[in-house]
Amino acid sequence: MLMIHGGTPLEGEVTVRGAKNLVSKAMVAALLGNSPSVLRGVPAIRDVEVVTGLLRVHGVDVDLDGDTLYMDPTSVGQAGVDEINVHAGTSRIPILFCGPLLHRLGHAFIPDLGGCNIGGRPIDFHLEALRQFGAVVDKTPEGTHLSAPDGLHGIRYELDFPSVGATEQVLLTAVTAEGTTELRNAAIEPEIMDLICVLQKMGAIIKVHTNRVIEVVGVGALGGYSHRPLPDRIEAASWASAALATGGNVFVRGSNQADMMTFLNVFRSIGGAYDVDDDPLEGGIRFWHPGGPLKPVALETDVHPGLMTDWQQPIVVALTQADGLSIMHETVYENRLGYTSELRQMGAGIELYSDCLGGAPCRWGRRNFLHSAVIAGPTKLHAAELRIPDLRAGFSHLIAALAAEGTSRVYGVDRYITRGYENFEDKLRGLGAKIERPALERTREPTPADA
Ligand code: UD1
Repeated sequence: MLMIHGGTPLEGEVTVRGAKNLVSKAMVAALLGNSPSVLRGVPAIRDVEVVTGLLRVHGVDVDLDGDTLYMDPTSVGQAGVDEINVHAGTSRIPILFCGPLLHRLGHAFIPDLGGCNIGGRPIDFHLEALRQFGAVVDKTPEGTHLSAPDGLHGIRYELDFPSVGATEQVLLTAVTAEGTTELRNAAIEPEIMDLICVLQKMGAIIKVHTNRVIEVVGVGALGGYSHRPLPDRIEAASWASAALATGGNVFVRGSNQADMMTFLNVFRSIGGAYDVDDDPLEGGIRFWHPGGPLKPVALETDVHPGLMTDWQQPIVVALTQADGLSIMHETVYENRLGYTSELRQMGAGIELYSDCLGGAPCRWGRRNFLHSAVIAGPTKLHAAELRIPDLRAGFSHLIAALAAEGTSRVYGVDRYITRGYENFEDKLRGLGAKIERPALERTREPTPADA
């Protein structure tokens, strides 16, 4: 539990390192090489620990020196179901091990993933693509076993939705499959492009065409890579929103304008100010509240280059301080607005609707999913007892508690926030936040439940 004495503007500087959503995938890609890989700028987050554990049980030698990760996959071997379960917890990362392990060992195992707090998060696209590559999928009570008795062969596949994970699945499987793969309706998030850079360094041939078409020409073997990941644009947006919601001023060292264009437009439309310093070593973006009222906006989340769904929650907290009615239409996940009930408890005026408000109809319309929010501001937030439901919602609860008057108690911090935000308590303290951990609460909370 973390006690937050709110009401202090956050001021100072934080540094963001490699994007969580690339680092874990680049670590999986190392499995495909026949020589060691080096990944730099790796953040100290729980997801990195999870993938490290999974790589090690599969025989990969993993060493962390500062923020540089060395991975030697030359002795990859089979892991037991129990070992995989212990290291995976309920993380979704094991799904992405399938292609590389099928290539290397002819067998892979996916533990039962269960649901999570932002919707069902199915893996049907992943399994369907793997089947078409030639995998035999065997669902058992302990999880899903996959084998590739006749090897893996290139496919022509069209995703029903440009899923990030399924696109990564196809890339990680196609690079060494026999023949050419054409993926239609692919995700083109910056983290996908960076994964393509990693695979290209390893020797892959991947062409990104117009209209979300990605073509992969399978090659016989891949080597290792040396790579510095793109910076974490989700963490950067979280600190930016925290600066705005608390009336503060935060320099996010390492954040990159090009990956954040859509967010920056929204930030400015709401009334926030920013300044880009593009020095390659010391640069970043300064975000601040320039004073005066914030402006309401109508927004919807979308796949890249739209407004990223992981930016939605911190923006909504800032919108509780805008002068008028704002709309947030969540179109990527059916159930990613649940965290607003805690914000309501803190005094925010937020109503949820199952209609598609403020934009084009999406997949979740007329299906009883509360996926549109109307936010009436400005409201003075007050302290509350908060239980964090998942990673991104959790950070937005922290922002709300920092903006609120009084002392909030936030539960679930170790379970969720540490998955995606490194040293966030030190960073908060460095920005002047008044936070405390009661002595008895310093023990680690249980392992996280979603990806
Ligand atoms: C990744 C990111 C997450 C981000 C999301 C969307 C990581 C570790 N996580 O999650 O932070 O919010 O992209 O940008 O990189 N879907 C299916 N069937 C499938 C796969 C997905 O229906 O087989 C649906 C999902 O339920 C969801 C939508 O597709 O509604 C998008 O999911 P997806 O892009 O796959 O998200 P992740 O890769 O899990």
